Amino acid sequence: MPDEAPDPAAGQRAGAMTGKVVVLGVTGGIAAYKAVSVCRMLVDAGCHVVPVMTRDARRFVGEATFSALASEPVMKSLWGEPDAIPHTRLGRRADLVVVAPATARFIGSYANGISDGLLLATVMATRAPVVVCPAMHTEMWEHPAVQENLEVLARRGVHVVSPEPGRLAGGDEGFGRLAEPGRIVDCVLGLLAGDHSKAGDHSKAGDHSKAGDHSKAGDHSKAGASLSGVHVLVSAGGTREAVDAVRVLTNRSSGKQGHAIAEAASLRGARVTLVTTTDRSVPHGIEVVRVESAAQMEKALLERSISAQVVVMAAAVADFRPKAAFEGKLHRSDGLPEILLEPTPDILMELSRSRRPGQLLVGFAAETEKVAERAKLKLLAKGVDLMVANDVSAPGAGFDADTNQVLLIDAAGSVEEIPLASKHAVAEAVLDKVARLMGPGRAPGQG
Ligand SMILES: Cc1cc2nc3c(=O)[nH]c(=O)nc-3n(C[C@H](O)[C@H](O)[C@H](O)COP(=O)(O)O)c2cc1C
Repeated sequence: MPDEAPDPAAGQRAGAMTGKVVVLGVTGGIAAYKAVSVCRMLVDAGCHVVPVMTRDARRFVGEATFSALASEPVMKSLWGEPDAIPHTRLGRRADLVVVAPATARFIGSYANGISDGLLLATVMATRAPVVVCPAMHTEMWEHPAVQENLEVLARRGVHVVSPEPGRLAGGDEGFGRLAEPGRIVDCVLGLLAGDHSKAGDHSKAGDHSKAGDHSKAGDHSKAGASLSGVHVLVSAGGTREAVDAVRVLTNRSSGKQGHAIAEAASLRGARVTLVTTTDRSVPHGIEVVRVESAAQMEKALLERSISAQVVVMAAAVADFRPKAAFEGKLHRSDGLPEILLEPTPDILMELSRSRRPGQLLVGFAAETEKVAERAKLKLLAKGVDLMVANDVSAPGAGFDADTNQVLLIDAAGSVEEIPLASKHAVAEAVLDKVARLMGPGRAPGQG
């Protein structure tokens, strides 16, 4: 069994999805072992999991493991299953298909409509949402063929759970590691939870008579309240301010929470622009702007906020920066440098001042004490609609952790406590609150 990190969101997921049929596709990548955890977490959440393994996946993990943990024995082939037409039957039964890990080969075949195997034929035959979780070495991940194939899939409405940086096979480090099972499961359960029209969809699933339906195949229900048609602008990460040619002043922000919000908003159908200081990968369909300093972030945000209905300022912007960066590299032999600091632009304040009518502005407050009190003061001072306040000194919360624990404080004074949960779950809670605050009177386009 793979190592399993404690999963703080497990309790929240338990039994939530009674009877939802999830087809779990496993392809032949080194990360196939992690699909065992995905399988178990989905079963624990109450899903009826049908595992489908490719031939090469079975070289990595024995089918007996999945057959024992899933709700049904492993399915492997278009030929020789008890059902004579297994792919269409499976495609229609599925409430959702998730492929984890998804190899470059699978992604390429799927993008090109090649259905030479049970799993590929099933994703081609289904009208249920499909979630693809790529995993591969960095070189393969960065290959234009893989990126273009994923773009094609994302355009068609396939949900892509992007890989992460970290340890890869053969001792390598880099980008391309399968997303953590908890993140994959959160995405699956989020989509299933938002899928209110599913009963009706089942009867329509087999109705291929309308050619136009194919374009709708990607219009799957989104997790939580829909943000379809809303432009959401999100900032993420800690800014870096140059001291000299090689050194920077920065902070401990990892950008994980901002990226999680951008991903969650995109899954809800929003048009998302993410301004980030990190080099984290960003799922297809999200416009990403990479910046470094507070000044660059301010420019990027102010330019793009003009069209945004929601602005989420999750980035940790430096409060001070060196007045001028030293030329070249400072050396120890030069003696101690005198670094004069000056304030950086107050981006949240600028966004508040320049905001368009009806635009909803969300700020973040990272505090180490008197969290609610300070966050309320910041909300008033900056004139924002919602403040997400977190105690960055609390265990498991704040910078670089995969989990967070926040207070959602709105301008009317309401305080909602979101207990320790994955940053993706916190992102969903923030967006639920945003959707409630937008309300019918602040619907997109009415600003
Ligand atoms: C040790 C080993 C590890 C591999 N890991 C990956 C991987 O992580 N991602 C990937 O896309 N391909 C990987 N491959 C290549 C795939 O196994 C190969 O493309 C295979 O045809 C995929 O088949 P499938 O997509 O039908 O499962 C690996 C191959 C080997 C030998």
